[in-house]
Order: sequence, then C-alpha cells, then structure tokens
Amino acid sequence: MSPANPGYQAPAVTVSSSLPKRKADKTVLIVPVVSGGDDDGRATVVANPFLDAEAVGEIEVALESLGAKGGPDQVTRVVAPSLPVGSVIAIGLGKPREDWPSDLIRRAAGVAARSLNGTEAAITTLSDIDLEAAVEGLILGAYRFSDFRSDKTAPKDKGLRDITALVADTKGKAKAQAQRATNIATAVATARDLVNTPPSHLFPDEFAKRAKALGEAAGLDVEVLDDKTLAKEGYGGVVGVGKGSSRPPRLVRLAHRGAKNKKSKKVALVGKGITFDTGGISIKPAANMHHMTSDMGGAAAVIATVVLAAKQKLPIDVIATVPMAENMPSATAQRPGDVLTQYGGITVEVLNTDAEGRLILADAIVRACEDDPDYLIETSTLTGAQTVALGARTPGVMGSDEFRDRVAALSQEVGENAWPMPLPDELKDDLKSTVADLANVSGSRYAGMLVAGTYLREFVADGIAWAHIDVAAPAYNSGGPWGYTGKGGTGVPTRTMFAVLEDIAQKG
Ligand code: BES
Ligand code: MN
Ligand code: ZN
Repeated sequence: MSPANPGYQAPAVTVSSSLPKRKADKTVLIVPVVSGGDDDGRATVVANPFLDAEAVGEIEVALESLGAKGGPDQVTRVVAPSLPVGSVIAIGLGKPREDWPSDLIRRAAGVAARSLNGTEAAITTLSDIDLEAAVEGLILGAYRFSDFRSDKTAPKDKGLRDITALVADTKGKAKAQAQRATNIATAVATARDLVNTPPSHLFPDEFAKRAKALGEAAGLDVEVLDDKTLAKEGYGGVVGVGKGSSRPPRLVRLAHRGAKNKKSKKVALVGKGITFDTGGISIKPAANMHHMTSDMGGAAAVIATVVLAAKQKLPIDVIATVPMAENMPSATAQRPGDVLTQYGGITVEVLNTDAEGRLILADAIVRACEDDPDYLIETSTLTGAQTVALGARTPGVMGSDEFRDRVAALSQEVGENAWPMPLPDELKDDLKSTVADLANVSGSRYAGMLVAGTYLREFVADGIAWAHIDVAAPAYNSGGPWGYTGKGGTGVPTRTMFAVLEDIAQKG
C-alpha cells in the first residue's frame, strides 16, 4: 500500500504467444489436463499451440507414473526437461468438454495458484481457454494477507509476482482483457484486504480514511461525514448504532461521474460498514464472535466496485454511500426499546440492538435515493438467516422483481452465484411497533433474511429499481480454502456488482 496506489498490488500480467526462449528455473508452467482423454482413462494435456509433442509426452508420462488422473481440482507438480521452466503444475479439469464454463477455469487457476508454494513467476496455458478467467483465478488464488505477521511467521517469499498468460493472438483484444481481469481481481483483493484488517485497526474513522485514499487515487469525488455532521443532519440510525463505541461513526460518499449524456444511467451503491458487531446491548454469544470482523464486507465490496468502475471508465454515474459504525455495548449504547429517527423521518423502535445493519443502511438508502438514481444496489452481511436458507456460498438477492432477477443472473455468470428470494407482502405486518412507525425486528423466527429485506424496502424511493444482496456468510470464508477463495474475506459480491454496472452501461 502506498499513498499513490493504496489498493492491493496485483502481480504483473503479460500476454505472450510463446514460451520463454531461455530456461527460467524459478518459473512454473500451469497446464490444464483432462481425465479419460484416451481409452485407458489417463490424464491428457488440453491441446494448445504452445507445447510440442515432446513436452506433452513428458508431462503425460510423468502424470501416469504418479497415478494422476486429471480429476477436477487435482494438482500434480512434475518436471518436463524439454520445457524452459523449472516445473509444471498439471491442474485437473475433469472430463473433456467442448465449452468450458468461465468459473471452472477461474477455479482451476485458483487451485493451481494456491499450490505454487512460494514460486514467484507462473506461465499458463489456461488463458488459451479463457484468458480473463485464468488471470482472475491466478491473482485471486495467489492472494494472501500478511500485514499483521511479524518476521517470525511472515512468508519468506513475495508470493506470485509475475503472470504470463499464453494466448494465440496477442494483437487483438488480449491486452485489454488481461488488464480488465487484473483490475477486477485487484478490486476483489482490495475488498478482501479491508475485510481481513482486524477491528483493532479498522474502525470507522480509519475505514473512512482508507475509502477516501482509494477513492481519490481513482479520481472519484469523495465526501466524509463525521459524527457531528451525521447528528446534525439527522442520520439517526448511524448515530444510534455508533453511540455505544468510543470510536465514532462515519458516512462516506464516493462518486464516479462517467455519464456521457442525459440518457446515461445513474446507479447508487450502498454497503454495510459495521467494523465490528458485538450485537450491542443485545450481545452476541462469544462463540465465533470474531467472525464479526467481516461485518463491513458489504461496504468493502461497494468501495472496491466504485473504484473499479472508475478504472474501467464505465460511461455511467456510480455513487456509493457507505455508513460506518462499530456496534458496541457500553453505558452510552442504545438500549432495546429505544426509539430513533432514521434519516428522512421514519421512526423506529429498536427492539434488538443486534439488528443494527438495517438501521445504518436505512439512513444510507434514503440519502442515496436523494440523488435520484435509476438503480440502487445495496449489499450487506445482514442476517444469520441468509446462511440458514442458502448456505455459506450463496448470497440471497431481494428487491424489485426484474432487477433482482437480472442481478442474480449476472451473479451466476461471474461465479458468485447469488440466488433470487421473494419479499412477501405479509412480512411487513411483523414489523409493526406499538410506539414507532416500525420495529427493527419481527416477533417471529421465520424468514429472517426476507424480514430484513422487507425493512429496507420501506426506505427505497418509489420508481427506483433496487436489489439487496445479503452476503452474511459468502463475504467471509470461515471454512477451508477452495477454488480461488482462501480463508477470510472473499471480496463477494464485488464481481457481481461490477457485472451489473457493466451490463447497465451497455444496455441501460
Ligand atoms: N452481522 C449480523 C449478521 C451475520 C451473522 C453476519 C452471521 C455474518 C454471520 C447482523 O447484524 C445480525 O446480528 N443479525 C441478526 C438479526 C436478528 C437480531 C434479527 C441475526 O441474524 O441474528
Ligand atoms: Mn448484528
Ligand atoms: Zn451486523
């Protein structure tokens, strides 16, 4: 991280149409292999124009002698003496196919990158199948976070620093595609860095400063509202949630103004930025409370996405509104039963201080709607119920029907796999309060993810197509690494939101 370049520093990516002329001992070649490619079920190298028959033979003989079959995600490291590299990583793709889904290539590249074991330079032929997926998968699979390791446990190597993507034609779109993939992966890695930074070091003011540095480096208009301004302007949700903490809340606005004419669309992004969620006075159980370092995953993804929109020069306006607070219990914390006034005037009875996300988001959504956007995408680690309903890897999308389905479809295209969920009208009755306009929780255990979405819907202005993406578990991998996803912050749903922005830029 440097002031001029405050985001994640991705490896250098080069496109080339041939292997190096001179032997590079410290470089590894990553080659996809398929299973059952011949009658004996042996692993065979996926045909490509870069390796001659001798090299292919060396790899296939080595795989056979090791009993490697090329099954999905199987990694085998072999030596092929005729090739100008130190070693070869054969990455299994499973059965041969005519068409390769992008995410299968992205995952394979990610698995290969995770097995590099300190190798700093990689060449791959996966890019001959899908250049962008190969580059994204390699960068994201190689991602690691060691900001908080002392010399005692810090890795001795630099990790992957150099990627050469082999493609038949380097003259056409290849360079732009490699750059786009690098920018996308950098955005995801930047979101991961923010999530992985511990709550001791990432609190609202620090988070706002980082958002500002990232935004300014990308040429965005940046505005930071401090706690006094928030109180004065009536951001009752952000102030109420933040008041239990000694570290006051913030609200950051980041604008990419790319619109070319009056027809260009305007998109609002909103992301939940709870830098740590103890639950407040309605305190959470101790087990796994540390996962709540990820409760700003929505905010991280939104910041990364608006920066990416600027880097890719999307011809639309994108305005991010990011509320940031720490949800703590203390003598100054809000109490269950308190009433607060959300930005815009709706009053809320806070029956549970652990349903804090919707309180800061409601303020931010109302503010975002004042800009009169065509679309609003909001994302948050909002409910444990997301995980009960859809599991650890599948975000839930709610919102206006058409836009919700469009967001889910694009999310599936990029491999983040969000799934559409309904907002049944009757759930609104469960949010009635005896003293205020609304209660922040329902009295029932049912449909917790949809109840939260129903609460947010009350604050979206009429006529704006909107989507709410609940990434409670998908934003943070508490299990083992898989594909291009390591432990900790995942950067989800950055690629979904960017895909939606690109789609809007193209089609309106
Ligand atoms: N940040 C949590 C949701 C969460 C839970 C995210 C687990 C990631 C993993 C959110 O603020 C919360 O506490 N939600 C409550 C809502 C309830 C009080 C209605 C929940 O899900 O239990
Ligand atoms: Mn909570
Ligand atoms: Zn929370």
